[in-house]
Amino acid sequence: MPMFSPPKIIILSVLFVTMASNTWSVDETFTYPENYDFGERVSNERLTALTTSIPPDGEGLPAGTGTFVAGKQVYLNKCEGCHGVDLTGTELGRPLIGGRGSLTTDAPIKTIESYWPYATSIFSYVRDTMPTTAPGSLSNSEVYSVMVYILASANIISSDMVLDASNVSTIQMPNLGGFVADSRPDVFATLDSE
Ligand code: HEC
Repeated sequence: MPMFSPPKIIILSVLFVTMASNTWSVDETFTYPENYDFGERVSNERLTALTTSIPPDGEGLPAGTGTFVAGKQVYLNKCEGCHGVDLTGTELGRPLIGGRGSLTTDAPIKTIESYWPYATSIFSYVRDTMPTTAPGSLSNSEVYSVMVYILASANIISSDMVLDASNVSTIQMPNLGGFVADSRPDVFATLDSE
């Protein structure tokens, strides 16, 4: 015990007295402002794009066409600065290719090539988030094209492949078989019964 302890009773009663008086009462005339004067209203088109992720069967993929040549241009202009000239990453961005077969080793390298099970996810991810400095700025054909460039550089598809909504789901990703179903009943019981 310290030599002197503050008189708690007195402090508490001061608090109660203060609370009981109307000093801190809620201002009932307060309303939230209609407009906070920052940001901008999101367009329906942008909202739909951002909230529509593409499932493995490719449903919802938009019109557009991608080629290796166009994709290389997109990559060099808009991605290379962060993901590196050979797509293996820099301090600013992750490696996109390489690392195949490394996930079960002591030095796993997680990339599109080594990890991602579905090519359709690349479409959603790149369209919605890349480049980080201007997400949503690529046209659909630019997204398809940069996908051809990445996937061909990873030797997953041929650089002749012309990518569009009809064939993204046919691409066989190397690590598709690397996933196992999580069978924990405690975690998935609720989901299954819904
Ligand atoms: C200004 C830097 C920057 C630019 C430019 C950029 N990226 Fe990225 N990218 C990142 C960062 C940082 C991450 C990691 C984000 C995270 O993990 O949350 C990333 C992650 C990714 C991933 C996911 C990789 C993974 O395995 O998790 C893909 C795919 C990707 N970027 C593609 C692109 C493409 C395609 C472009 C060009 C159109 C691009 N990026 C431009 C910084 C950048």
